[in-house]
Amino acid sequence: MPSGPLRGTIRVPGDKSISHRSIMLGALAVGETRVTGLLEGEDVLSTAAAMRAMGASVERIGEGEWSVHGVGVGALLQPEAPLDMGNSGTSTRLLMGLVSSHAIETRFFGDASLSKRPMGRVIEPLSQMGAAFEAAEGDRLPLTVRGANPAVPITYRLPVASAQVKSAVLLAGLNTPGVTTVIEPVPTRDHSERMLRGFGAELEVEIDSEGVRTIRLRGEAELKPQTIEVPGDPSSAAFFIVAALIVPGSELTISNVGLNPTRAGIVEVLRQMGGDITELNPREVGGEPVADLLVRHSALMGIEVDPAIAPSMIDEFPALFVAAALAEGTTVTTGLEELRVKESDRISAMAAALTLAGARVAETEDGLTIHGTGGEALAGTGQAGGAVVTHLDHRIAMSMAIAGLASKAGVEVDDTRPIATSFPVFEALLEEVSG
Ligand code: S3P
Repeated sequence: MPSGPLRGTIRVPGDKSISHRSIMLGALAVGETRVTGLLEGEDVLSTAAAMRAMGASVERIGEGEWSVHGVGVGALLQPEAPLDMGNSGTSTRLLMGLVSSHAIETRFFGDASLSKRPMGRVIEPLSQMGAAFEAAEGDRLPLTVRGANPAVPITYRLPVASAQVKSAVLLAGLNTPGVTTVIEPVPTRDHSERMLRGFGAELEVEIDSEGVRTIRLRGEAELKPQTIEVPGDPSSAAFFIVAALIVPGSELTISNVGLNPTRAGIVEVLRQMGGDITELNPREVGGEPVADLLVRHSALMGIEVDPAIAPSMIDEFPALFVAAALAEGTTVTTGLEELRVKESDRISAMAAALTLAGARVAETEDGLTIHGTGGEALAGTGQAGGAVVTHLDHRIAMSMAIAGLASKAGVEVDDTRPIATSFPVFEALLEEVSG
């Protein structure tokens, strides 16, 4: 729907990546881990259910407040039934790592979107560690992992910039004798490293003069239970940042936004485009940098986005494309091949969606080139055009809902249910601030 200005203050829910990891590591630490600010989205609930199926106690005590009693590294039980991963790539790939060094057999399945996503990228290093896999064609779900015990420590250089692959190998390394090493030529989100250290694992990170990171984890680790406060998710905040920038008259404060440098690329790029974003009250929450963001409507300018920044905003490109569609001039993005294997092919899904909403977009192999309106509202989907196709992808649904706020006729989205995987209160918050 076209909207009035966005005003007021909102607080976005907990970070999805950190929420998954707090439940997984809590489930491996003997004793009680307390988590506050946990994201209660479907993806994280899939992780919680899986850890329960493998013997941990994972209980909700109050809103965002959870208690986890872990079984200890090496003591995961074989689940009695296949694990339903729903829409969640993070649950699947990280848990594949975890079970790979346990003497159990685990079967994973998921929804239509997850069943299309490549798992070969984790099967390869985990096979080197000794685990055996039976997967559907193309190394996809459903698949079965037979864990190795003992597993073999490896040194693995990441062929793709992927925090999920890095984390899968490190989590397998937890129950592997000796030192498991991951070499990361391009830095990706480092929540696993931070949290593993917080839980008492012996983990060191060396960064060479070229920025290549070598992460070493000593296996047969003993994890100690923790109290964790999950900061707000910058990936969820991104939709509201873009909304406030593109809707005239907006002045919105988004509190408690995680600004880990491996995640904060979107703020930098939007500022390069002329976005007025002020960081207030910088502080640390749960070992992560956090601030409140004050965002004011801005006349955005198209830019060429440096592909080197992509890993630090890999989930925010759909929202950025919407900002670009309202900017003055042309925005060029390149080096985004990874976007084609997310919950949907986000390059083609966003090209189709924005075109339907009246934006001028050209799709390339590895990105989008977008000619912005210079601030004039998009036409919107209207009656004749039909609805935007979201392909079971929460971020396409939310991005296009935001685009609708800066359109004449509104944007119709075919399926809003996937929003519940990462941001169940998205629609309620949007209603609250858009007057
Ligand atoms: C995530 C890593 C990223 C990201 C995903 C969450 C994580 O995936 O897109 O939403 O929590 O480790 P890749 O590792 O495939 O880039």
